[in-house]
Amino acid sequence: MSKTFNVAVAGATGAVGSQMLACLEERDFPVKNLKLLATARSAGQKLRFKGEEISVEELTETSFKGVDIGIFSAGGAASQKYAPSAAADGCVVVDNSAAWRMDPDVPLVVPEVNPQAMGEYTRKGIIANPNCSTIQMVVALAPIHREAGIKRIVVSTYQAVSGTGKKAIDELYNQTKAIIDSLEPEKKVYPHRIAFNCLPQIDVFLDNGYTKEEMKMVHETRKILEDDSMAITATTIRVPVFFSHSESINVETHQPISPDEVRTLLSEAPGVSVVDEPSKSQYPMPIDAAGRDETFVGRIRADESVQNGINMWVVADNIRKGAATNAVQIAEILANDYLGK
Ligand code: A2P
Repeated sequence: MSKTFNVAVAGATGAVGSQMLACLEERDFPVKNLKLLATARSAGQKLRFKGEEISVEELTETSFKGVDIGIFSAGGAASQKYAPSAAADGCVVVDNSAAWRMDPDVPLVVPEVNPQAMGEYTRKGIIANPNCSTIQMVVALAPIHREAGIKRIVVSTYQAVSGTGKKAIDELYNQTKAIIDSLEPEKKVYPHRIAFNCLPQIDVFLDNGYTKEEMKMVHETRKILEDDSMAITATTIRVPVFFSHSESINVETHQPISPDEVRTLLSEAPGVSVVDEPSKSQYPMPIDAAGRDETFVGRIRADESVQNGINMWVVADNIRKGAATNAVQIAEILANDYLGK
């Protein structure tokens, strides 16, 4: 009989956590026992997994005793606080927050891109799941980097509200409804109205004038693609879309590469789906990517303003490939190649 694992999901009641349960079930992860963790507010709430109802428990320092794999999506503060004690209890943590991503002793993994980094988890017992915007960008860019060497990336994002969590999904819905009903929209999550608007701010501003989200894309991409010399600049925008982030990516390569070559490369790349028939108005869109695990790429064309430049449009479900699916894929590699042996 193949091995099964005691698994815990921290933040199980959240937007990403609930999708993690769905991914574990859909992908038939070898779960022996599943523990669902959240704040004391949610303790006792029942969630369904494989036809069974499981009670949510309060996340505490002793939650991970006897747990083999702990998948965290309960925010940075909870990861900072509970991941080390979980690891000390022998649980391998797959962490979706930003708390550990840039720690040199913590691998930052996108299974299609750098599975070779996985083994470094033994240093701290923690593996980090990258930022949602970074994941879809590196899935699309890694094959180009391997083929032609990326010199510079200029990326602008159009990010869905679900990346902020359940409260933001409710805020977009409630504000949209209020405006249509000619009522005053309430503002709780974002500094400005998100309905029928775009916000050029994701996370807090740093001293250099960029937001934390923009700098995450810079630093995380360099770590995953293992190239600290890569020039990267990002502008991240929140848009009134519920699910799936879109990105306009301009990439300059060291070696020449044509749009046709990029199309062929990406058609064969793991986790990528090319949708690129402009004459038929076929290109990736958030409404088509929502609920899917692939990273969709289209509008592939030469940047005629530089010698070796490509422009493209990349869309993926931020809650699935950008968070839950990627974390469960990491857990699968752990189970198959490391803990299962
Ligand atoms: P709860 O639902 O009890 O507040 P979202 O990203 O959709 O906002 O969800 C965040 C998730 O993380 C929820 O499951 C939330 O639980 C959980 N969470 C947030 N902070 C903590 C914490 N300090 N300890 C445990 N769970 C937390």
